[in-house]
Amino acid sequence: MAIVEPPAPSAPDGPESGAGAPLYLRRAALLEALAALCASPDLPTLRAELAALRAALVPGGALRAPGGEEAVVFPEPLLQAELAQIDAALSLERARYYAGRLRKAAQGERTAAINEIDLNRWKAYDDIVTDSLWLIERRDGSGVHRADYWGNFVPQIPNQLLRRYTRRGDWVLDPFAGAGTTLIEAQRLGRNVLGVELQPPLVERVRDLVAAEPNRHGALVHVVAGDSTCTDFRALLAEQGAASAQLAILHPPYHDIIRFSDDPRDLSNAASIDRFLALLGQVVSRVVDVLDRGRYLALVIGDKYARGEWVPLGFLAMQTVQERGFALKSIVVKDINGTAGKRAQKELWRYRALVGGFYVFRHEYLFLFRKR
Ligand SMILES: C[S@@+](CC[C@H](N)C(=O)[O-])C[C@H]1O[C@@H](n2cnc3c(N)ncnc32)[C@H](O)[C@@H]1O
Repeated sequence: MAIVEPPAPSAPDGPESGAGAPLYLRRAALLEALAALCASPDLPTLRAELAALRAALVPGGALRAPGGEEAVVFPEPLLQAELAQIDAALSLERARYYAGRLRKAAQGERTAAINEIDLNRWKAYDDIVTDSLWLIERRDGSGVHRADYWGNFVPQIPNQLLRRYTRRGDWVLDPFAGAGTTLIEAQRLGRNVLGVELQPPLVERVRDLVAAEPNRHGALVHVVAGDSTCTDFRALLAEQGAASAQLAILHPPYHDIIRFSDDPRDLSNAASIDRFLALLGQVVSRVVDVLDRGRYLALVIGDKYARGEWVPLGFLAMQTVQERGFALKSIVVKDINGTAGKRAQKELWRYRALVGGFYVFRHEYLFLFRKR
């Protein structure tokens, strides 16, 4: 189970974002102290070395880095927890193992090619979700994020995806941009982003919102009006100086659950489920064309209920993506916490459920795919 709290609006994209005040320490001195722990011949010696190390951590202590010197930065609670674990180890071998792990973390960054998560300090990223059940208590309403577009997703979704599957300067493609949640979040995190949205007034709105949000990392944010079933994403990326995209986030209509417009090209106006899936397939084929191999596509979608039957729209859409050159990496179930429309009808749906023998939707899916 994962409870995702909204990140602070000014949270940096790194380990300091959720794990307490940072401690700036002299790297060389810390590595030496940890090496001494690892070389201890017995537990009492190791604990004495550990006590000396802890004493040197206090303000003004020998391990504290004055300005100018190359420092290693640890969130204080994290470092204290690691030291406590070493202290509590029952065998010399275990204590040395924990000390060695901390030494690795102090040595420097080890990141994967597709994100900036420092794997040598993976414990510091306690706000990055790795479970397949997402329970999001409260929508992040910070900055220019707004909840008034019926059908927009919570900012925590693109926030998690961008931090997990991109690096600063990467390009993200959102072919169903809506009210721009992905674009706002990408700008905050320093990822470049191309959004395509069928409704021109929404595009204007997204431009205004993005312009009102600070762009600390100088991200390029481009949103255009268009039909994503036939948009040349490559040409649009090329106009921005990019050859390809490194992440795609797709949040299409859940067929006709919400009619977004009267436009016949709108996927929410598809005459049947088959037609909806065919149109979604066209968008995915265009996305696969510009996405780098080995990079991720995220699909956010829910099921629907029609003529007394549960329609597994999510799984049908999942297959549509899989058939176009993607390996399925994860199925995440995310809670739905009463959108404005649903809240008003909650009681009615509960009554209908009791009468009709079904359950009211409280979840949607986040499918993660990797391009083969
Ligand atoms: C579920 S909403 C996306 C919401 C978005 N993630 C947000 O947070 O604001 C789906 C969007 O897809 C748009 N749409 C529908 N058909 C489209 C098409 N053929 N091309 C581009 N956009 C389309 C709708 O206008 C709607 O805004």
